[in-house]
Amino acid sequence: MNILLLGSGGREHALAWKLAQSRLLAAAGDSFYAAPGNPGIADHAQCVELDAADHDAVGAFCRDKDIGLVVIGPEAPLVAGLADHLRAQGVAVFGPSQAAAQLEGSKGFTKDLCIRAGIPTARYTRATSLEQAWGALKSFDAPFVLKADGLAAGKGVVIAETREEAQEALSDMFGGQFGSAGSEVVIEQFLTGEEASFFALTDGTTIVPFGSAQDHKRVGEGDTGPNTGGMGAYSPAPVLDERLQSRVMADIIEPTVAAMRAEGMPYSGVLYAGLMLSPDGPQLIEYNARFGDPECQVLMMRLESDLGELMLACAQGKLAEAPAPEFAEDYALTVVMAAEGYPATPKKGGAIALGEAEERGAKVFHAGTALRDSGLVATGGRVLTVTARGPSVTEAQAAAYRAVATIDFPEGFCRRDIGWREVRREASRSAE
Ligand code: AMP
Ligand code: GLY
Repeated sequence: MNILLLGSGGREHALAWKLAQSRLLAAAGDSFYAAPGNPGIADHAQCVELDAADHDAVGAFCRDKDIGLVVIGPEAPLVAGLADHLRAQGVAVFGPSQAAAQLEGSKGFTKDLCIRAGIPTARYTRATSLEQAWGALKSFDAPFVLKADGLAAGKGVVIAETREEAQEALSDMFGGQFGSAGSEVVIEQFLTGEEASFFALTDGTTIVPFGSAQDHKRVGEGDTGPNTGGMGAYSPAPVLDERLQSRVMADIIEPTVAAMRAEGMPYSGVLYAGLMLSPDGPQLIEYNARFGDPECQVLMMRLESDLGELMLACAQGKLAEAPAPEFAEDYALTVVMAAEGYPATPKKGGAIALGEAEERGAKVFHAGTALRDSGLVATGGRVLTVTARGPSVTEAQAAAYRAVATIDFPEGFCRRDIGWREVRREASRSAE
């Protein structure tokens, strides 16, 4: 069949690499398109100019090219209702409807759902005016967790150490710092523990676990400095052991999918749960309605099943008939190479020479690159995600950094300690 993948980041490059290996694309006449794609995705798919915000144009492309499956990578088109538009014309889509994507698009919606479905999450208050928000602060103690309700490109969460800082941050949010995303806020109790991510595929009824990961959101080594979209990740996350994963499925994922179905908003696609492993058990921090970036890269590196068939099964409500996803037993770790100045003002145009990283078994996924006459250049932000595997996190980390060392990107930088928590745990276990 013909497949269209939407998106242009490292996540979509990893999806494109894996989809290109699918049996769905095995017949001679099958075509694989990506819009807009990037130079890495172009190795696997035909990149086309198509604006995901223009639903009619995407619909017309699907009719014109006889697309059998659309895979929506990022959250914005999901929240904008692209999946509904395409389904209405009979196209199978991997990704939730607009109503179901509220799980990512509105933090307040998700918190209320948690209450209705008995899902463990931090105590919270929703506020729709600055006055109400300042008042609500009184029932919380420092540190204060303040969240813009809507999509804010991963930047809408502020953790304020003092009441004054919290008041200031709320003024900024209601003052338009995050645009309309901040016209409502959620204030919640600060949770302690280690964070981990858990993924599940669902067609709205059947749910299958789809792996775990941990990422590093801060720009600086030792997890310091400003938040980013993610500077690296590894999978699986050993802290999320079998017992905890069963608990996450039973206490968080299953009640969510059941409540969404019962309330007339069946959720299909990948459900990405950001969790806090608190002393009281796993608590839901947030949901995303798509794969994480760069978590997707480490999941795809280990996935042994046919991604296209799994995605089509989700889209067609036939996940129960698909074989359970299988992952390699080893670890994958990815290091993000970003442009200098990221996340504030990343430098654009830096030259990149890829070297021999891939000849050593690593995968270099493109996140923010473009091909110019002069060669490959950075287009800003996160530029490459260099991903490798190993029998332990320590060995996967070493392999990823060996690959990073072969890449010449003078105006780029990366963290040198991706995976440090697990590397330290592995070292202390081997010292026992
Ligand atoms: P989110 O965008 O909701 O994932 O939040 C971004 C980050 O803020 C999370 O990855 C956590 O590190 C932190 N965070 C969010 N909510 C809480 C909370 N209730 N307690 C502690 N940290 C939180
Ligand atoms: N890496 C975090 C995210 O994709 O939301």
